[in-house]
Amino acid sequence: MGHDDGCDDAKDPYLSSEPGRLRRSSDEAWPVRSTLDDRGSRVPLRAAQTSELSREELVALRAMFDVVWGDEEGEFSDDDWTSAIGGTHFLVEIDGVIVSHASVVERVLQTGGRELLTGYVEAVATMPQHQRRGYATQVMQAVGSLIDDRYELGALGTGLSGFYERFGWEVWRGPTSVRTERGLVETPDEDGLVMIRRTPTTPALDLDTLISCDWRPGDVW
Ligand SMILES: CC(C)(COP(=O)(O)OP(=O)(O)OC[C@H]1O[C@@H](n2cnc3c(N)ncnc32)[C@H](O)[C@@H]1OP(=O)(O)O)[C@@H](O)C(=O)NCCC(=O)NCCS
Repeated sequence: MGHDDGCDDAKDPYLSSEPGRLRRSSDEAWPVRSTLDDRGSRVPLRAAQTSELSREELVALRAMFDVVWGDEEGEFSDDDWTSAIGGTHFLVEIDGVIVSHASVVERVLQTGGRELLTGYVEAVATMPQHQRRGYATQVMQAVGSLIDDRYELGALGTGLSGFYERFGWEVWRGPTSVRTERGLVETPDEDGLVMIRRTPTTPALDLDTLISCDWRPGDVW
């Protein structure tokens, strides 16, 4: 396992000098929900860039996503995988096994005539047998802190708005679209499924107006 690779404080303020442990970046408290495993031990949260994950960890993550989304129509595609990597991963592990995950990748969203550097959340998942123990809550709190510190906006696409609203995310009410070589293309199937998170540097937003994302293969939102 490459858990102690790349955990240099100087490189990433989200990684503490204690290998593999996440560090608080501000005065905001870390998770308030239970973060104990079945034996009552505290379950650590780890942050890592995709490049810091070992091949075995990447294989395990992909297998986890196949399990979590395996029963759904379309499943977890190669494009979904490509969208989920290349940024910062937040991982909860029990006995060296990844049981919960979310990643934040950098994108540029546009609304109100402004380009907003955005932390876009992908692949929020907890292994079925570990669900409803607060792990995704723990992951999403860390995701929120990173986005607040680094980006002008947070965004994600979901059909589970109630889950994210608990962490301060808001449904984008206006039309969604994608910027392509052919210009702006509406994405009406995504309307009502995009959520945003305001950060300390988010400008005034009108959630009823149009928002667009940069193009990417597969699901653009
Ligand atoms: C959604 C998911 C990530 C939640 O993971 P988790 O580790 O079980 O989440 P938590 O234990 O932190 O849940 C905290 C709260 O979120 C809510 N919640 C959890 N799963 C939920 C779901 N599927 N739908 C709606 N609300 C949910 C509940 O209120 C829960 O509190 P409770 O247990 O007191 O009722 C997990 O169910 C999952 O992997 N689902 C399949 C993949 C998926 O849909 N991912 C989100 C894609 S946008």
